[in-house]
Amino acid sequence: ASLELGGYNHFMQKEIHEQPRAVADTAEVFLDGGFIPENFGKNAAQVFQDIDSIKILACGTSYYAALTGKYWLESIAKIPTDVEIASEYRYRDVIANPKQLIITISQSGETLDTMEALKFAQAQGHQHSLSICNVMESALPRNSELVLYTRAGAEIGVASTKAFTTQLVVLFGLSVTLGRMRGTISDEKLASYTQELRELSGSIQHVLNLEPQIAAWAQKFAKKSSALFLGRGIHYPIALEGALKLKEITYIHAEAYPAGELKHGPLALVDENMPIVVIAPHDGLLDKVKANMQEVSARGGELFVFTDLDSDYTSNSDTIHVIRTPRHVGTLSPIVHTIPVQLLSYHAALARGTDVDKPRNLAKSVTVE
Ligand code: G6P
Repeated sequence: ASLELGGYNHFMQKEIHEQPRAVADTAEVFLDGGFIPENFGKNAAQVFQDIDSIKILACGTSYYAALTGKYWLESIAKIPTDVEIASEYRYRDVIANPKQLIITISQSGETLDTMEALKFAQAQGHQHSLSICNVMESALPRNSELVLYTRAGAEIGVASTKAFTTQLVVLFGLSVTLGRMRGTISDEKLASYTQELRELSGSIQHVLNLEPQIAAWAQKFAKKSSALFLGRGIHYPIALEGALKLKEITYIHAEAYPAGELKHGPLALVDENMPIVVIAPHDGLLDKVKANMQEVSARGGELFVFTDLDSDYTSNSDTIHVIRTPRHVGTLSPIVHTIPVQLLSYHAALARGTDVDKPRNLAKSVTVE
């Protein structure tokens, strides 16, 4: 096992650190081949021309990738997108639309709920499907019309890390591809998206270098019994993913909220024992997030803020902690901001002595209902 771990203590840690490579390998599809429909299959140009909307079905971490993807599909390609938990979708009355592309996202390609949701969609009359998957020739790609494989490599840790960030790369690539076909992005925009994708691995590496600071925060988390994660806009799904990682491997109760929703309930939970992680990059919502952080501070909550070098947010108190990720990377910021929440959970789990790679009651691939 130590050979397989290549010097790391756990698969999860190794897989977190493999992300610059995994993301670069996956981005290569678009950087070398271009943002062209053929990356998704021979027939993809025809399919992409036929569709008027998208529905994404997934479970767990892959569902949070889907939620993130919705923002890009709607903002870059202007294509209406809904996202649904696979196990819910298959048990309700749905209104099928043959012009809607069904996308499934799955690391394993074998998650039963996702597979059954795809079959259900097909039985309702959905004709077009795309699988975003990490395992070649698994059930979901085999049963889908189109496929694009993430190139994360084998993921062993039960808590998904590099599969998630590579899924996001594919969703971004799909959004740009559809945007080009639908004429929603200019040549300048295309050039800047390409450049952002080229720089992504380097930005992830910069965040990985912050590991000692994040590990120091984790020591404090390890002593808590619950935590809140806040984000806004496209960083809200990253807050959800951060809370899920913490639950999965540390068994600390964690919840995520879009920061604007605080006042409608979760603010009642805030006191000096409640750590609150905030994903607060320098985007169009930063001023709103700052106001939300002020509401938390005023109630005695302890803030742990991930912001970037472009933001002017600084701590003015002992109960506000700030870690600065590299310069704001723009559209791909949710991918970069995933890394610190993964590291935070990993180090909190180490401090608590839980089984990081095989958390209790969970399985890597869930092939039962
Ligand atoms: C399990 C795993 C999660 C994963 C989910 C969906 O619950 O523990 O890490 O996100 O299944 O798996 P999939 O292979 O479909 O992405």
